Amino acid sequence: MNVTNLQQRSDHGERKYEKKKARHAQLAELLSTYSQQYYDQDESTINDATYDELYQELLHLEKEYPEFALFSPSQKVGAKASPKFKKIPHSVQMLSLDNAYGEEDIAAFLERVKKLLPPSGKIELMLEPKFDGLSASLTYRNGILVTAATRGDGFVGEDVTKNMLTLECVPKKIPSPHTPTQMEVRGEVMMLKSDFFALNAQREKNGEKLFTNPRNAASGSLRQLDSEITKTRNLTFFAYAIISDDINLSSQKEVLNLLLQFGFLVSDKVHLCSTQEEAFAFYKKIEKQRAELPYDIDGIVYKLNDLNLQKQLGASAKFPRHSIAYKFPAQQAQTTVLDIVVQVGRTGNITPVAELKPVTVGGVVISRATLHNKDEIEKLDIRIGDRVVVQRAGDVIPKIVYPLLDERPVHATPFTFPTHCPCCGSALVREETEVAIKCLNFNCSAQLVERLIHFASKLAFNIDGLGEQNIRFFFESGIIKTPTDIFELEIRNDQLQLQNSEGWGRQSVKNLFSSINQARTIPLDRFIYALGIPQVGRSISKLMANFFVSYGNFINHIKNHRLDSLLSVAGIGNSIGNDIKNFFNNQQNMNVMEKLAGDGVSSGMVNVVDVGGTRSGLLTNKTIVFTGTFETISREEAKELAEKHGARAASSVSSKTSLVVAGENAGQKLHQAQKFGITVISEHDFLKMIQQ
Ligand code: IVH
Repeated sequence: MNVTNLQQRSDHGERKYEKKKARHAQLAELLSTYSQQYYDQDESTINDATYDELYQELLHLEKEYPEFALFSPSQKVGAKASPKFKKIPHSVQMLSLDNAYGEEDIAAFLERVKKLLPPSGKIELMLEPKFDGLSASLTYRNGILVTAATRGDGFVGEDVTKNMLTLECVPKKIPSPHTPTQMEVRGEVMMLKSDFFALNAQREKNGEKLFTNPRNAASGSLRQLDSEITKTRNLTFFAYAIISDDINLSSQKEVLNLLLQFGFLVSDKVHLCSTQEEAFAFYKKIEKQRAELPYDIDGIVYKLNDLNLQKQLGASAKFPRHSIAYKFPAQQAQTTVLDIVVQVGRTGNITPVAELKPVTVGGVVISRATLHNKDEIEKLDIRIGDRVVVQRAGDVIPKIVYPLLDERPVHATPFTFPTHCPCCGSALVREETEVAIKCLNFNCSAQLVERLIHFASKLAFNIDGLGEQNIRFFFESGIIKTPTDIFELEIRNDQLQLQNSEGWGRQSVKNLFSSINQARTIPLDRFIYALGIPQVGRSISKLMANFFVSYGNFINHIKNHRLDSLLSVAGIGNSIGNDIKNFFNNQQNMNVMEKLAGDGVSSGMVNVVDVGGTRSGLLTNKTIVFTGTFETISREEAKELAEKHGARAASSVSSKTSLVVAGENAGQKLHQAQKFGITVISEHDFLKMIQQ
């Protein structure tokens, strides 16, 4: 290598170094601003996930060039106490926790722990949720709560004693005989999700600025100059640590138990374990429950259970070495709205959908997010080209939380909602009381295909091989236009020759026919669900099936226009009732119904199974025969009542009949009942029985 080459190389190295140094300075400044906002102003202009990402980048640079760390937010815990409050120094520094983002980080943590400890005993871990609130320290003297402080910069916190005294769940006095002379309890001040939503709803009504998340709301509510305001915010405090020389404690498990005895709230989602596998399984279990928990958590804290070992391990400048927070994958991320398009649903609702620059959220790549309706787009003020925060919660479809208005590009374009259906061109309609904008053309092909997809879907007819993609293929090639076409596919195949279509072969076609044939027998509730009646989801379908019991009875009600009787079912009100009636007033739907399950249409026939097994009620599994003329109700009404209570109404008496209800002039059936030794009761007794 010649001199020029060497020179070039070192120039190159220099440039690289300067570039990294500049990036570090930029990150340090950004992170300090964000951290200031987070701790001081109860506000976030950046989400936690992005903060973490930038922070990791900063740490990475400091690992490569340790000198960068000299002036870095990585050396600070939290932010300085605000001058708004009196200051309280912490007797023991309030540290932060190191973060782990994967199983390998936890394994490395355990390795480090093992190396630092004598090679003797096994390691027990106490696993606790990592509460996403703000940490606080409460001091008790002779069992009386005397001061409460926020973390501040870890050394000095803000005096929030008066405010903390308004929290109902914080014990103001520790019950004797345990009373230690001096004790500090540390934990997290939280706002429950339900309180957060209620507070924001109220603030929206009053035209006040909304809190971004429950943590900001908790922080803003605790750090009030007027404790009366804090009182109205219903904050919660979860305790997780005790510092006291007056109490002999040897494990974190004992700490949590004692906190409970003292009257503190302690999470019930804690777990003591001694293997890595168990620790990972607990993490996964809680992660699944995360969305349903009443408060926000953002990971699991892994703590050495043995307090002596904890002491031996000590701490670095920022973190204790005995604990680590295994963070959940971010539920939020930032991306760009590339376009906004509308989708036509099976009931004609027009839903706007944002097409996004693909981004990973919680380990899943998302490229689309629902915008729900026109009002939502206007409320959030989302424009094409905007940077937005997207969120996944549990298994819910990803949604846009808010646009980053500060970063709005000049070319960002507001979305103009279409006036006509993008599929069939008919004028879109918005009913007065509704938020949804609809295409009312029942034969709009977008609706037709969505109804077919729903019909064959898992919870409906569950036809393997007829997923969304294949349904679209069959619909577009004109092979399946209505549900009955599905059941006629096999006999039509002489002409169709599906096995010769692209992507199909002899075996796959055979499999398809076999799964269609398997789906021919279906319980009534799934049959009703599959029809895709607006507002009739799984639970309303079950209620309807329990009411009608049999397909015959169901179709009888429809044909005789007696669907109003459904309104007597708890859970089915006027609005759902109207949708059901409207659905069956449409002759096209009636044709499908009759063709599918009616007698005589052999090719399209589906055998709908009664809901016998799933019926519940007073008369479950009883077969009742009604005979004669009744005084107070008609025979039909009596049958309906019986069915509503779980019975099956039969027309002839057999040895399987459980009960005969006989009115005036009951003839032949009454004799038969006596012959089989079946109990016969009067109309009056029957009604009394039902009332019971
Ligand atoms: S133990 C060294 N246990 O997480 C401090 N902290 O990022 C360790 N946190 O400042 C305290 N849940 O505010 C502990 N179950 C838990 C926690 C928890 C939330 C907070 C705490 C701490 C922060 C560190």
